Amino acid sequence: MARELISKNATKSVYRDGDKAVKVFCKGFPKAEVLNEALISARVEAIGGINIPSIQAVSVEEDGCWSITRDYIEGKTLTELMKEKPDKRDEYLNQMVELQLMIHSKTCPLLNKLKDKMARQISEMEELDPVNRYDLLTRLDSTPKHIKLCHGDFQPDNIIVKEDGTMYVVDWVHATQGNASADVARTYLLFCLTDQAAAEKYMDLFCEKTGTAKRYVQQWLPLVAAAQLTKKRPEEKELLQSWLNVCDYQ
Ligand SMILES: Nc1ncnc2c1ncn2[C@@H]1O[C@H](COP(=O)(O)OP(=O)(O)OP(=O)(O)O)[C@@H](O)[C@H]1O
Ligand SMILES: [Mg+2]
Repeated sequence: MARELISKNATKSVYRDGDKAVKVFCKGFPKAEVLNEALISARVEAIGGINIPSIQAVSVEEDGCWSITRDYIEGKTLTELMKEKPDKRDEYLNQMVELQLMIHSKTCPLLNKLKDKMARQISEMEELDPVNRYDLLTRLDSTPKHIKLCHGDFQPDNIIVKEDGTMYVVDWVHATQGNASADVARTYLLFCLTDQAAAEKYMDLFCEKTGTAKRYVQQWLPLVAAAQLTKKRPEEKELLQSWLNVCDYQ
């Protein structure tokens, strides 16, 4: 059976190959990053209790490109479903938050720490002025040390819903152990880039369900904005830079 392209970005393509999904990395993609993605996925898979496509192989294709093969999950992404059934958006948002809370209830002690990863990203950002950088690193340092499993890129694109409604979570490359509010601030930020109303609903749902003060999540916004700026996407720059000012959230 021929491979069928299901998703593509600048550096990766995901194909369906029968009952497998093959993520093929572009030529020159760092080998360490491919192996790191496979290792993080495998560690999360080993926790158990989370629906995640199982890794079947890490390989080199005939043309020399690295690939990761996983079980193919038959279904639609939550993004597709939200578009198809706008009347069910609130219900989907609710399910999405429940799923994220379930993930936060797990631990995965061998993953990197969210705070370490974020500190590295902020330290390496060339465009930050030294005062701003110092403020952000000081704020990060003062956050509590939590060890909850955080997906790191939890958004509707990375949730596949099967016909029977079971939700699977993909794209674990950014997973760390850390503070749930940081993970929620990142999802909120991703929603804000596309759909402000959904962002507010999502944040309200999380705060309601967990009894968390909004301010507690908001204190992470300058930090997640700085981390997202490292992706250097021109269309996001203006919004993210406006979030960088630490004082606005105190
Ligand atoms: N195991 C799988 N089964 C079915 N579909 C999958 C599977 N893995 C990935 N996909 C599809 O491919 C898309 C991209 O996969 P994934 O998010 O892992 O790749 P990525 O290129 O690292 O991410 P992104 O495009 O978000 O940067 C997913 O949104 C999903 O639609
Ligand atoms: Mg993805």
